[in-house]
Amino acid sequence: MQLLMMGPPGAGKGTQAAKLVKEFNIPQISTGDMFRAAVKEGTELGKQAKACMDAGKLVPDEITIGIVRERLAKDDCKDGFILDGFPRTVEQADALNKILDELGKKLTRVLNVNVPSEELIGRAVGRRICKTCGSTYHVKFNAPKVGGVCDNCGGELYQRTDDTVETMTNRLNVYVKSTQPLIDYYKNAGVYTEIDGGQPIDKVTEDIFSVLKRGA
Ligand code: AP5
Ligand code: MG
Ligand code: ZN
Repeated sequence: MQLLMMGPPGAGKGTQAAKLVKEFNIPQISTGDMFRAAVKEGTELGKQAKACMDAGKLVPDEITIGIVRERLAKDDCKDGFILDGFPRTVEQADALNKILDELGKKLTRVLNVNVPSEELIGRAVGRRICKTCGSTYHVKFNAPKVGGVCDNCGGELYQRTDDTVETMTNRLNVYVKSTQPLIDYYKNAGVYTEIDGGQPIDKVTEDIFSVLKRGA
């Protein structure tokens, strides 16, 4: 199963992808997570990505496409994967088609987690992530049992440097301009389903599972 999670920044792509990983045992491929890992490692890619991410801009297509091409060729992707946050431009979507062709695979479904724009900044600003295991929380909507501590592993929670009101405003503008056109792109491809991401987390998960079960 080859899934694609689309949606504006803070919509819940990562939160829902994590549930799909558990259910289907296929990897989540988040370009944002890959760039953050490169920033942490201090690589040249990390340096380039950090400047773009902190400004709320997209990392250039040729860099992003290259890392996804490499990642999808890995052995753990052979039974499927969940793309999270890629593609974000028409150029990336065209490149993905080519990569999938080369691998002899097709997208099973594109799930667009849609959330009213006025809710998104609050979701991002209240997000907290575990330094150790990457679990995602929200101070209000998905609070850990003990503030600042991961329920899952006891790790320390941190805030992403791009989860500020200012950077989120830029990220939302970039989304509308560059990524929103992909909705029609995938509607035309016949694989698009919209998910109401404005509901509680578990209800969103339920809707996604029922879409995948009936295949539309
Ligand atoms: P990326 O890391 O992908 O960020 P994003 O797309 O802005 O999305 P987020 O990760 O912020 O949100 P999400 O939808 O995963 O939400 P989450 O589940 O965490 O990209 C970061 C940057 O990397 C980009 O700006 C760009 O610079 C670069 N980049 C990445 N991919 C690229 C690409 N393809 N091309 C070029 N550049 C690229 O949830 C958010 C919060 O809300 C959490 O606190 C969560 O607990 C909470 N929450 C989730 N669901 C609900 C719910 N239903 N109700 C209430 N709260 C909820
Ligand atoms: Mg995410
Ligand atoms: Zn943890």
